[in-house]
Amino acid sequence: MNNIIVIFSTTLFLAVSFSHAIESDFCVGDPSLPKGPGGYSCKDPANVTTDDFVFTGFRGERTTNNILGLNGTLASLSTFPALNGLGISIGKLDFGVGGHVPIHSHRTSEVIVVTKGSLIAGFIASNNVAYYKTLEVGDVMVFPKTMLHFQFNNGTTPATAFVSLNGANPGTQYVTGALFAGNLPGTLAQQITLLSEDEVMRMKTFLNTA
Ligand SMILES: *[C@@H]1O[C@H](CO)[C@@H](O)[C@H](O)[C@H]1NC(C)=O
Ligand SMILES: *[C@@H]1O[C@H](CO)[C@@H](O)[C@H](O)[C@H]1NC(C)=O
Ligand SMILES: *[C@@H]1O[C@H](CO)[C@@H](O)[C@H](O)[C@H]1NC(C)=O
Repeated sequence: MNNIIVIFSTTLFLAVSFSHAIESDFCVGDPSLPKGPGGYSCKDPANVTTDDFVFTGFRGERTTNNILGLNGTLASLSTFPALNGLGISIGKLDFGVGGHVPIHSHRTSEVIVVTKGSLIAGFIASNNVAYYKTLEVGDVMVFPKTMLHFQFNNGTTPATAFVSLNGANPGTQYVTGALFAGNLPGTLAQQITLLSEDEVMRMKTFLNTA
């Protein structure tokens, strides 16, 4: 009996000392309250229901007849406030034939699992080595934190993949968008990329920011 108590209190002690930051089971975000760097303030637990912990935004078919051939849905802090403070998010990516996610990065790492079709997926390390391969259904790949990465459906049928990121608000920065879709002047974009004026103008025209 005493042994059980000792084991129990040791376990409890370890649990407490390793989880000093955990002071409540959850903190479902309340988007109506001010947001800080750590996320939203907590919704009153008395008003939290099961539905707060369920995201239904992946249901149904997606159309992909847009310029990227892509339809992505991300369950992150803003669309799924139950993720607040949990350091995790999940997304669904539907690709038409030839569809792709343009090269981009996040503040977090990412894992991808292909559930339909096949995808060329990869990332490019800081020494410019590209690690990429055609993933089949069931294959999982990891894109390490902040690395530039991409997915491309080079198959002959539509493809679907789910991704999970170890941040509730991972951010997504597209290289093309950063250079040509924002407020960076074209002349500066040209200087810092060594692209020609024509090429910069072609991209800005394409992105409607010329
Ligand atoms: C909880 O929900 C009820 C009903 O919507 C609302 O009247 C009440 O203000 C909420 N409580 C808090 C603390 O948000
Ligand atoms: C994604 O699919 C939905 C459902 O078909 C559609 O309403 C929406 O316009 C699509 N989004 C894009 C960017 O194609
Ligand atoms: C896409 O598939 C075609 C046909 O199999 C192949 O010729 C081409 O090299 C592939 N593209 C890439 C980027 O692997």
